[in-house]
Amino acid sequence: MKTLIISYLPGKDYSNTKKLFDHIMAKFENKEYKHIDLLEDKPEFFDNDSLMAYYQRNYQGKEISEELKKSVSKMDAFANQVKEADIIIMAYPMHNFGIPGIVKTWFDNIMQKGMAFDYGPTGPFGMYKGKKSLTVYTSGGSYTPDKVSINYPEWNTLELLAKIEFAFMGFEKAEVIGATTSNPKMKEENMDTAKAKIDAVLNEWYS
Ligand SMILES: Cc1cc2nc3c(=O)[nH]c(=O)nc-3n(C[C@H](O)[C@H](O)[C@H](O)COP(=O)(O)O)c2cc1C
Repeated sequence: MKTLIISYLPGKDYSNTKKLFDHIMAKFENKEYKHIDLLEDKPEFFDNDSLMAYYQRNYQGKEISEELKKSVSKMDAFANQVKEADIIIMAYPMHNFGIPGIVKTWFDNIMQKGMAFDYGPTGPFGMYKGKKSLTVYTSGGSYTPDKVSINYPEWNTLELLAKIEFAFMGFEKAEVIGATTSNPKMKEENMDTAKAKIDAVLNEWYS
């Protein structure tokens, strides 16, 4: 079972989410995995070259120039890591009611037509059948993650988008586990509850 772990923890040692991440990493001490730290290994925004390369290669099936190949080489490296993995584990905080921009950019890099999804007679379909993902995050506030709207507390776009991204790619499972941190009285309890949920998922997947 090949595991790819993606983290974006800009708070480093002060990060709340890192506590959930460390809890997960402790379980991988004697297991094989690949870890990508998005603070070190940064995904790239589409620019004109890379978008043209993507259209020409992935949508029009054209052979692209060496120069255009270079413009998507970083994206392709991230996309290949996902293709090779069976399980993806992600850890990052909530920023502005959603997925931090750099993590969204990682999704934009790996979500490639002809690789992660394609179109059939009935519309788009995901190509990563059988893969599983676990996303862990912390947020200051507490929300109603299953429903998103303009009305508070229905403001958590993170959980929904994390699930949609993996569902669109055909993943068999997309678990998302969060803990709220702003209430000091509840913080430890929330973190412990999240850790117990993480244990339940990982025990099932790696048993
Ligand atoms: C730039 C920034 C934006 C944030 N936006 C939100 C937000 O929209 N909603 C929320 O509940 N908490 C928000 N928070 C609070 C964090 O999500 C929360 O403190 C979290 O536990 C931080 O995780 P970390 O310590 O791993 O960085 C934000 C924090 C930062 C630094």
